[in-house]
Formats: sequence, C-alpha cells, structure tokens
Amino acid sequence: MQPEIAVSSGSSCLVYPLPSILDRIDVAKLFPVNQPIEVELGSGDSSFLVEYARRCPERNFIGVERLLGRIRKLDRKGRAAGLANLRGVRIESSYFLEYLLPQRSAAALHVYFPDPWPKRKHLRNRFVNERFPTLAAQALLPSGTVYLRTDDQNYFEQMVAVFAGSPMFCPVETPDSLCGLLTDFERDFLAQGIATLRAAYRVAG
Ligand SMILES: C[S@@+](CC[C@H](N)C(=O)[O-])C[C@H]1O[C@@H](n2cnc3c(N)ncnc32)[C@H](O)[C@@H]1O
Repeated sequence: MQPEIAVSSGSSCLVYPLPSILDRIDVAKLFPVNQPIEVELGSGDSSFLVEYARRCPERNFIGVERLLGRIRKLDRKGRAAGLANLRGVRIESSYFLEYLLPQRSAAALHVYFPDPWPKRKHLRNRFVNERFPTLAAQALLPSGTVYLRTDDQNYFEQMVAVFAGSPMFCPVETPDSLCGLLTDFERDFLAQGIATLRAAYRVAG
C-alpha cells in the first residue's frame, strides 16, 4: 500500500493505491466495467482526461501523474463529474509504462506536453526517447495508437525521428474529435499565441 496517495476517504476515491510496485496492475480491478483502456502519461491537472472520459463512457481512462496536487485534481474533478471510467495513478510515467501497465492492454497512450528538457545536458531525461516506441508497442493492443503533442519544435522532431526509426509503428492522423479536446497546457500556449504540434502513430499490423 502507498498510504500517502490515499487522497480522500471513502470508496469513491478515483486514485488507485497501487497494491505493489513490483507487479503489473490488474486493470479489471480498477473499473466497474471491463472495456478498452486509454492512458495519459503525465496527466497534469487532468482537464483533458476528465472531459475525454465524460465524452467516452464506453472506454476506461487512467491518468498517470507524479505530483500529488495534480492527482488530487483528477480525483476531485472526476468525482464531481460522476465518472466511473476514470482512475489516477500517482507514479513515475516511465516506470508505469515499463513495469506496471500490463502488456498488450491499452487501446491508446496519450503524451501531451511532456517536460521538454531543452538544455543539451538534460536531453536524456526526455520521456519520448529512443526506447519509447518499444515500451509503447509492448503496452498497446494490436492496432493501438500513441498520441503526442508538444509546443517544443526540437522535442517534436525527436518524437517524429524515434517513431520514424521504429518498424513497430506507422504514422496516422489524429482524429478531429481528439484534436478538439485541449489540455490545460495547450490552452495556455494557444492563449499566448504559441503554436502546438501533434503526431500520432499506430502499431503496425
Ligand atoms: C507540462 S505538464 C503537461 C500536463 C498535461 N499533459 C497538459 O498537457 O496539460 C507535464 C506533466 O507531466 C508530469 N510529469 C513530468 N514528468 C513526469 C514523470 N516522469 N512521471 C509522471 N508525471 C510526470 C508533470 O508533473 C506535469 O503534470
């Protein structure tokens, strides 16, 4: 158990307290209904995921976020919206993707405005790096999709390059319905007149 992430009392808390960090989660235990799962890695204030979950009751959604205050927001907003198809997990995204999310379990992975780490000496900290396509392919169902957004041109080029170098994925269009759903950071960037970039990749058949 991780008592520090029991962010509210009562059975309706949407934050999933990981029973172990050594075993993959049993996704069937997270949600009342067994249906396709989508995961946002670095879900921030969860405004994207709460709205997406509200619009898509036929899917389950997991937000992964390392900051307690932000995972609390997911809980608060998700419960206010009465969502049964949303859960938050407070943990580091790379670890979750590699070790906790069951293999071939997710219909989609969403990575929106990950920290850009612009300094050369910090580039290795970027989440979408050379290993990412392999980890994503392991986590995704056949024909599952990775959706990416960033405001950072250099990071975008890195994202495109790592997927271009992976035979496991092919580029696809982001559906209009998803493009229209903005994240918290995206709203801020657009309000400041900063352009944002997006790309999507489907597991190759
Ligand atoms: C720039 S914000 C973007 C948030 C959200 N996706 C959006 O577009 O509004 C990046 C988020 O990822 C979280 N984050 C950064 N690195 C992380 C990591 N390694 N594991 C989990 N969360 C992380 C941060 O705490 C922050 O909430």
